[in-house]
Amino acid sequence: MNKKIYIFDTTLRDGEQTPGVSLNINEKVEIAKQLEKLGVDVIEAGFPVASKGDFEAVKAISKNIKNTVVTGLARATKKDIDTAWEALKYARKPRIHTFIATSDIHMENKLKMKPKEVLKRACEMVKYAKSLCKNVEFSPEDASRTRKDFLYEVLEKVIDAGADVLNIPDTVGYTTPDEYGEFIKGIKENVKNIDKAIISVHCHNDLGMAVSNSLAAIKNGAEQIECSMNGLGERAGNAATEEIVMAIKTREDIYNSYTDVVTKEIMRTSRLVSDLTGIHIQNNKAIVGENAFAHESGIHQHGVLNCRETYEIMTPESVGLNKNSIVLGKHSGRHAFEKRLEEIGYNDLKEEKITEAFYKFKDLADRKKIVSDEDIEALVREEVFKVEETFKLEYYQVSSGSVVSTSTVKIRFKDEEINEAACGDGPVDATFKAIEKAIGINFNLKDYLLKSVGSGKDALGEVTVKIEKDQKIFSAKGISTDIVEASAKAFINSVNKMYCYI
Ligand code: KIV
Ligand code: ZN
Repeated sequence: MNKKIYIFDTTLRDGEQTPGVSLNINEKVEIAKQLEKLGVDVIEAGFPVASKGDFEAVKAISKNIKNTVVTGLARATKKDIDTAWEALKYARKPRIHTFIATSDIHMENKLKMKPKEVLKRACEMVKYAKSLCKNVEFSPEDASRTRKDFLYEVLEKVIDAGADVLNIPDTVGYTTPDEYGEFIKGIKENVKNIDKAIISVHCHNDLGMAVSNSLAAIKNGAEQIECSMNGLGERAGNAATEEIVMAIKTREDIYNSYTDVVTKEIMRTSRLVSDLTGIHIQNNKAIVGENAFAHESGIHQHGVLNCRETYEIMTPESVGLNKNSIVLGKHSGRHAFEKRLEEIGYNDLKEEKITEAFYKFKDLADRKKIVSDEDIEALVREEVFKVEETFKLEYYQVSSGSVVSTSTVKIRFKDEEINEAACGDGPVDATFKAIEKAIGINFNLKDYLLKSVGSGKDALGEVTVKIEKDQKIFSAKGISTDIVEASAKAFINSVNKMYCYI
């Protein structure tokens, strides 16, 4: 019989540790709700002791998630565990995830603790966590570089102390599939009471083997995989949730396993995470990249037209890609628009958000002949994640050509209207400078990305802007058929996001 693999999604914890990513509470709650729709078993919502923002986000997620286990990370200290529990206690199914490093290199150089002390601390803190919460996970950090006899001892003792799940991290992404598979097998064979706990794995992608290592672990007895959407995470990231899930589904014959993930929600989850984190997905990314189901060469196209399976091992529909995406135009009414929203998965939007999105849709349909599902999704997301408009762009005008560009903007700030103009190196630069003058601050622009939503000359331009303040990144998007307008909106949105935070 096939065995169930538990999917532990850490997009909101390890994923949020991706350089340049910082999500606000609303965004984290939206992602968590979508992860629940996706059907993951565990959502790692954050690291509550890390900051007030993290704490509040874990608390909000705990209150909002209905059926999925919600966990938060805690070092093996009372303060971390107490703080994690304070945030997690509102969850219907809480879990405390505590960790301490067990490799010699980490114990000597980071913890400055002897193995004996680490063992004692691990047991005491698992016991303490268990006194607060009936579901406890323990991770010996840097497990894959830990001396095996010491690791076995730690694992045996923490199970006795009450750990329900033992996570074996390849913290630095150093292991290989064969080695890691053997490693997990060794744990199964040498830890006496291992049948009392679930073995979990958590692989980093430094050598590009995180997914392969996790799958090798399944073959050798692991039952929980820790992974993140789009492979986000520290440094080169973690094993990608969508790749793990689709590998298990597509190669059921090899892994004899299944997950409870609703694979049709994969695309939507991936896009939401990419939009909100501002981390673009490479075109050739497995499963969720733009080209993952595109057949370019004539031979391939011919093959697929005759028989899909010649070059397709999974269907685009199975991951939620809707091929018939041309839907509405300027004569479509509100009823058709709402119906389409439901079909693409937005069935719990507030009335006023639908109304706003509908106005935007009408406006877009006037400028563009055909409005696709992707366009609608972009419009809705802009509406759903709108932050309070401290600064509002009322108007802009640019003059641009082969000479220097100039831009004039009118910005509303409370009851005040501010008009400013600036010259710049191209229309976007000039507009950003004019906005900075109007607001009276020079922002540290960390990133600017322009891409089109769909294709065609009249495609929507989607701009992502990231600005930095106090080592925190604020990322926001703007969309329009006019790319200067999209850029100006993205810039103002990121400034407004920053103001909401401070
Ligand atoms: O990579 C790692 O070791 C971790 C642990 C804290 C689980 O993220
Ligand atoms: Zn990690």
